[in-house]
Amino acid sequence: MSKKLKVKNLSHTYTDQPEKTEVLKNVNATFEPGKLYAIRGESGSGKTTLLSLLAALDEIQSGDITYGNKSIKEIGLNNFRLRYSNIVFQSYNLIKYMTAVENVEVAIDFSERKADPNKYLKQVGLTEAEGKRLVNKLSGGQQQRVAIARALASNTPIIFGDEPTGNLDENTETKIIEIFQDLAKKDHKIVILVTHSNKVASYADVVYKLSRGKLTKV
Ligand SMILES: Nc1ncnc2c1ncn2[C@@H]1O[C@H](COP(=O)(O)OP(=O)(O)OP(=O)(O)O)[C@@H](O)[C@H]1O
Ligand SMILES: [Mg+2]
Repeated sequence: MSKKLKVKNLSHTYTDQPEKTEVLKNVNATFEPGKLYAIRGESGSGKTTLLSLLAALDEIQSGDITYGNKSIKEIGLNNFRLRYSNIVFQSYNLIKYMTAVENVEVAIDFSERKADPNKYLKQVGLTEAEGKRLVNKLSGGQQQRVAIARALASNTPIIFGDEPTGNLDENTETKIIEIFQDLAKKDHKIVILVTHSNKVASYADVVYKLSRGKLTKV
C-alpha cells in the first residue's frame, strides 16, 4: 500500500478563547509511506492541534486532509482512526487497571489475534516481569514504551507520535527512534513525530517547522 496522507489548505481556530487565535493557517503538506517525519515548533505553536486533525481526533474546520486521495471526512473519522492510524501521546493514555501485556493485547490487529504481546514489549525493551505489572506501577518511561508497543501491535499504515520520547533517557530514546525508523523503512509506514528533540529530528527524512500558524520544511 502506498497511499499518501495530504494536508490541503488546513486552517484551525479555537473559538472558545477570548482572543480567537488562528492556530493553523492554510497548512499544506504531503506525507509518504516509507518516510519518517518530524514536526517541530515552540510550545503552543499548534503541533498537537495539527496532529489531532491528522489523526482524525478533531473535526476539520477548513481545508481538507486526504488519505489515498480520499478525504478523511469521506472515509469517516472513526473508520480512519480504527483502520489506518495510531497515535502515541505525550501522556500515554494506557488503561491503568490492566497490565502492560493486556494493554498491548487489546491493540493487536484483528488479523493477527494469535500474536504474542510480549513480542512487542520485548521490542521496546520491556521484560516479561514488567509486562505482568499494572501499568500504573511502571515508571513514566516504561509506560511510554508500553504505549509504543501498543502502536506497534495495532499494525496500522500510519503512526503518529506526540513527543514519544519525551520521558526517556538518551539510550532508550535512541532505541525508540530506531523502532520508529524501522516502522517507516522496513514496514513502509507513514511515521509522523511531533518533537522537541534534536535527536529525533536528526533521524527524520523530512523536518517541518510550525510557526505562527504556518508549516514550512526546514
Ligand atoms: N481545546 C482547545 N481549546 C482552546 N484552545 C486550545 C485547545 N487546544 C489547544 N489550544 C490552544 O491552541 C494553541 C496551540 O496548542 P497546541 O496544543 O496545539 O500546541 P503545541 O505546539 O502542541 O504545544 P506544546 O509543545 O506545548 O505541546 C495554544 O495556544 C493552546 O492554548
Ligand atoms: Mg503539544
